Amino acid sequence: MLSYQHGYHAGNFADVHKHVVLTLILAYLRRKPGPLSVLDFYAGRGRYDLHSAQAAKTGEAATGIMRVLDQPWPALLDDYRDALMSVNKGVAKGTLARYPGSPLIARHAGGDEVRLTCCELHPMEFSVLAELFRPITSKPRPRVQLHRRDAFDAMIAMLPPTPRRGLAILDPSYELRDDYSAMAKALTQALKRWSTGVYLLWYPLLPDARHERMLRSIRAVAPGDTLQSELVVRKSGAGMHGSGLLVINPPYVLAEQLASLESWFATLSDLPTGQGAAGGLFAR
Ligand SMILES: C[S@@+](CC[C@H](N)C(=O)[O-])C[C@H]1O[C@@H](n2cnc3c(N)ncnc32)[C@H](O)[C@@H]1O
Repeated sequence: MLSYQHGYHAGNFADVHKHVVLTLILAYLRRKPGPLSVLDFYAGRGRYDLHSAQAAKTGEAATGIMRVLDQPWPALLDDYRDALMSVNKGVAKGTLARYPGSPLIARHAGGDEVRLTCCELHPMEFSVLAELFRPITSKPRPRVQLHRRDAFDAMIAMLPPTPRRGLAILDPSYELRDDYSAMAKALTQALKRWSTGVYLLWYPLLPDARHERMLRSIRAVAPGDTLQSELVVRKSGAGMHGSGLLVINPPYVLAEQLASLESWFATLSDLPTGQGAAGGLFAR
């Protein structure tokens, strides 16, 4: 059963949080020359139309990416802004027509050395992704591979990657309650195969905090450091009140970088600032 479609949510506060961190991790990995593997296990369609019926129905981009558009953007966000602008060429200043998904952002921020592998199970999402990347995948020896396959299987079958240096992006839609325990199980296996990789796992903050047990299990098997970053945008009530990220083997600069972006992220929160963890972003 796959009913989730990211088009309803593209460019929301969670996308901004996740994609900024994605670009920061890639910028760090790029500091060392040489090829990099990026495995995007829940790739989505790659690019989203912000004027689509889906986007209009929820209006989530309006309280996400559109809110920060007029803010001053620190230089740390250059890669994220460039990826955003790359899909909005010719669009009037101060507005956006499209939002880039994680595969495009990874290609953009990872540079020429990235070997990108994407998995996506939804037939329609996969076919749009395949069409988007056709100019690259139709070339001989492309540096992008697309697979219409299950991420949980792929996390076992495709790890460790070649080259071994790189990042796995885990951005499930958590449609089933079991997805949390399935993710903890799959990550446990993945870490046995590829303990040195950087892993970026997204989770929603929901009233029943169902992510906590998953994170406890993952931390218990993580080979080294982990960094947790949460962006809380409203009081806990009905639905998702924030976005969470767990980074396994994080770049040592990431916590400090996120601390320096706190006031920029606070623009995405409806809570008053100055409430510590409640009013915006925190990392630990
Ligand atoms: C949150 S969206 C991904 C958004 C994308 N990572 C981005 O940031 O642009 C989750 C995607 O995972 C896909 N998906 C759900 N379960 C999956 C599975 N078991 N294997 C592969 N893809 C799956 C959904 O169809 C959906 O497109």
